[in-house]
Amino acid sequence: MRYAHITGWGAYVPPRIVTNEELSHLVPTSDAWIRERTGIRQRHIADDEDHTSTMAIKAGRKALQRANLDPGRLDLVVCATSTPDYLMPNTASLIQDGLGATHAAAFDLNTACSGFVYALSVASSMVRSGAYENALVVGSESMSRVMDWTDRSTCVLFGDGAGAVVLQASEMAGGVLSFRLGSDGSGGDVLTVGLGTRNPVSAERQAKGDGPFMKMAGREVYRFATRIVDRVTREVVSDAELEIEDIDLIIPHQANSRILSKAAQQLGIPLERIYSNLANYGNTSAASVPLALVEAIEEGRVRAGDHGVMVGFGGGLTWGAALVEWTYDPADREWSMWRRSVQGARFGLAGVKSFAHRAEREVRFWEIRMRRRARRRRLAKENGSAELPEDRAQQARLNGTSKAKKKRDRSGG
Ligand code: UT7
Repeated sequence: MRYAHITGWGAYVPPRIVTNEELSHLVPTSDAWIRERTGIRQRHIADDEDHTSTMAIKAGRKALQRANLDPGRLDLVVCATSTPDYLMPNTASLIQDGLGATHAAAFDLNTACSGFVYALSVASSMVRSGAYENALVVGSESMSRVMDWTDRSTCVLFGDGAGAVVLQASEMAGGVLSFRLGSDGSGGDVLTVGLGTRNPVSAERQAKGDGPFMKMAGREVYRFATRIVDRVTREVVSDAELEIEDIDLIIPHQANSRILSKAAQQLGIPLERIYSNLANYGNTSAASVPLALVEAIEEGRVRAGDHGVMVGFGGGLTWGAALVEWTYDPADREWSMWRRSVQGARFGLAGVKSFAHRAEREVRFWEIRMRRRARRRRLAKENGSAELPEDRAQQARLNGTSKAKKKRDRSGG
């Protein structure tokens, strides 16, 4: 039997910290309101240098270093995000290129704040099925780019960052043991960022600074969240034939400290068994669960043999939980200087390889363009024309291969 183990982990948050106090100069709010109603004290906000893909690459590199895995051995990169760099290309492909994971398939997955748990479930299933050996699962978000910085009901809540884990196949029992995913699209309108093909941004709207921004019916999402965390956690625990008491740490999506307290109460466990780092990062959507996981590991809250449940909930509406048995002792996985330098060199090489691929593609296109140009010149010369026929139809006419000519030839005309 195959299992999918978490063997590496890494996180990155942009250096700029925005405090509640700072926000109180921007919108009518206060540090006291934000702390009391949400538990958030500060959040990290990306500058012009950081994007969803670049933050993910930084987190991914750390995860690969921990796992001591060469990026060339990755078979799969899954990126959970609702704030991709572009609608196309997908962010996971940018990450795959940035890491030098030249043999990996790559795709994005958007289920908002449940994204990481969804991505972990999909990737672990692919690893367990035998399709892939090594996968990188990333949650990365640039929430600040979709915020309406005049709307106090949303802009105080969110932050930017990325977290990643490496999943590896093994015959040893453990790793991701069970998961549950759910969706209720009838609640799609309570948490939205309305950018898409139904709502393209016109130049006029852009000039006015008119969104599309995130909009949230906070109370409705709150009610949904307090129902779902308890339910989906119980389901995933029972799927693994365990009891709530067997769970050493729950790592939930970091949206609101009141949601976490309520979950502890409903599950009948002490609040200390629900990990929270919300105060420092705010709600980082798909990045929040992996950011919390990495910090929990670094604080020594996760040990080999422990059972943990990661729970996500949010836009869609969607939710998910994954139960993991830790098989590797995080303490054994400290980086040596030597390993760091070797990995650093590998990532440097990834940049060179990516540059070489781009250059090779450019040269190939240039060659094709030159060949076409030479052919056009030859045809023009043969036809005694000084003009270079620019389009295919013209070329076809000169070649005598136009559709009309073919039809005439067929009909004997
Ligand atoms: O990540 C996806 C999942 N998201 C969540 O789970 C978020 C779930 N929702 C929540 O966490 C909470 O609903 C919020 C933190 C978003 C809001 O807290 P709330 O206690 O539900 O506040 P509310 O929306 O009911 O607003 C209460 C009052 C309102 O004033 P009035 O109408 O009572 O006079 C708001 O205008 O608080 C006001 N308010 C604020 N006041 C100061 C709303 N935002 C702010 C603010 N500063 N930033």
